[in-house]
Amino acid sequence: MSELKHLLESNRQWAAERLATNPQFFSGLSQQQTPEYLWIGCSDSRVPANQIIDLPPGEVFVHRNIANVVVHTDLNCLSVVQYAVEVLKVKHIIVCGHYGCGGVQAAMENKEHGLIDNWLQHIRDVYRYYRAEIDACADNNEKLDRLCEKNVIQQVLNVCGSTVIQNAWANNEALSVHGWIYSIKDGLLRDLGISMSQVDDYRAANR
Ligand code: CO
Repeated sequence: MSELKHLLESNRQWAAERLATNPQFFSGLSQQQTPEYLWIGCSDSRVPANQIIDLPPGEVFVHRNIANVVVHTDLNCLSVVQYAVEVLKVKHIIVCGHYGCGGVQAAMENKEHGLIDNWLQHIRDVYRYYRAEIDACADNNEKLDRLCEKNVIQQVLNVCGSTVIQNAWANNEALSVHGWIYSIKDGLLRDLGISMSQVDDYRAANR
């Protein structure tokens, strides 16, 4: 435990700084959370949701897993989506991938990684959908970046196809799903231009 003392010390300092600027910082947050955004991102330590979009605690609901995958049988992810949409009433869901994703990279390799290969199978499926476009890339780095982008697009479609989002749209709720990608090299987010706000957007993209 003692080797983690520096983290507990950092926490005390951080909490003190928040209180110094706003004495109600924690008491306000303890009453409720009203985030407008659900972030679905990669677990990669270099892609922390709140810091990247510069939002304080309370402003973004977060789900992260390896390679930001949304699977219709993943109760964990679906529960997050349902709670975010039906209880917290978020207005935007952001699926955010990142270039150079290790999970996507591993899915492109022809070697075994153990248990995680079962998870990465979902990304291999994405590769298969877009094989012609990805294989046409000049080199492996470009292939990886393209698959990272396609993976985000596919996961946006998976979010939109979930019963939670379909029901929200059927009820005319204002809810948009967006696909972004982050570059660890420059710290910038790019919008992949596939935002969907109604069932017709989803049907048009998923035809
Ligand atoms: Co990643």
